[in-house]
Amino acid sequence: MSNNLLAGKVGIISGALDEKSIAWKVAQRAYAQGARFVLTNAPLAMRMGEIKRLSEECNAPIIPADATSVEELEALFSGATAHLGGKLDFVLHSIGMSPNIRKKRDYGNLDYKFFQQTLDVSALSFHKMMHVAEKQDALNEYASIVALSYIAAQRVFPDYTDMSQAKAMLESIARNYGYRLGMQKKVRVNTISQSPTKTTAGTGVGGFDAFYDYAEKMSPLGNAPAEACADYCISLFSDLTRYVTMQNLMHDGGFSSMGVSEHMMNVLTEAAGAGA
Ligand SMILES: NC(=O)c1ccc[n+]([C@@H]2O[C@H](COP(=O)([O-])OP(=O)(O)OC[C@H]3O[C@@H](n4cnc5c(N)ncnc54)[C@H](O)[C@@H]3O)[C@@H](O)[C@H]2O)c1
Repeated sequence: MSNNLLAGKVGIISGALDEKSIAWKVAQRAYAQGARFVLTNAPLAMRMGEIKRLSEECNAPIIPADATSVEELEALFSGATAHLGGKLDFVLHSIGMSPNIRKKRDYGNLDYKFFQQTLDVSALSFHKMMHVAEKQDALNEYASIVALSYIAAQRVFPDYTDMSQAKAMLESIARNYGYRLGMQKKVRVNTISQSPTKTTAGTGVGGFDAFYDYAEKMSPLGNAPAEACADYCISLFSDLTRYVTMQNLMHDGGFSSMGVSEHMMNVLTEAAGAGA
């Protein structure tokens, strides 16, 4: 379905690793809606090569950048504005990684160097992107910047360990930079808090299948798929949401408003019966 919602708009999309990635779907949707953009990912991810397929499909060049490096982000933003022939209308931050989660360290046994890396890659990189965009005056008025978050920023999900703090920081950066860029150029900055989604980053979290099922059973609409998250991103990049800013927007099928669902009650009642 294309309504040309992004006709004439240009931007940067980070974080497309493979076709399961949320950013991959955002790129496909943005292209279908008439946008032109540059793709970016960490040089390491580039070696896996899958992103080249997306680049051809969307006619979008790739500019590699480690999002923790201000220098590489400077080259990304100047390269993108040069290639696209002007300032940007949208930026997607779809980046997350925790070495502690990768090494399966639990919350009482975190490696603090890893913890700092988690914060740097998953949260500070968002600040750095906006810092570079501001310094280069790379954004058009009413540009829209979106990052992806998770409800573990507000609630406890034990296996999410230090990523919970990274997401809390990410959402705070959205509010604070949202104020600054809003005052300067009417730029919008939001985070989308997405349902558990079966991607490389998602399934790397311990116990993922259990809390994917739990969220599915707790949400009246079920878990939001990556394609629907992409649609939500497109609506935020479009002119239809020009006064939405500094928000953490729940995209979770209703999960965040639930106490308990009948579905979950039935599961627990059956389990109690089986244990009796
Ligand atoms: N999958 C889920 O359940 C879920 C739920 C809510 C939010 N999110 C968030 O969505 C975003 C995208 O994740 P995804 O689920 O699509 O998984 P993904 O693994 O496909 O994407 C994560 C991306 O981060 C990139 N990345 C890691 N380190 C980087 C660095 N130093 N510089 C630049 N890029 C780097 C990876 O290469 C990868 O492309 C993340 O912020 C994630 O936390 C995911």
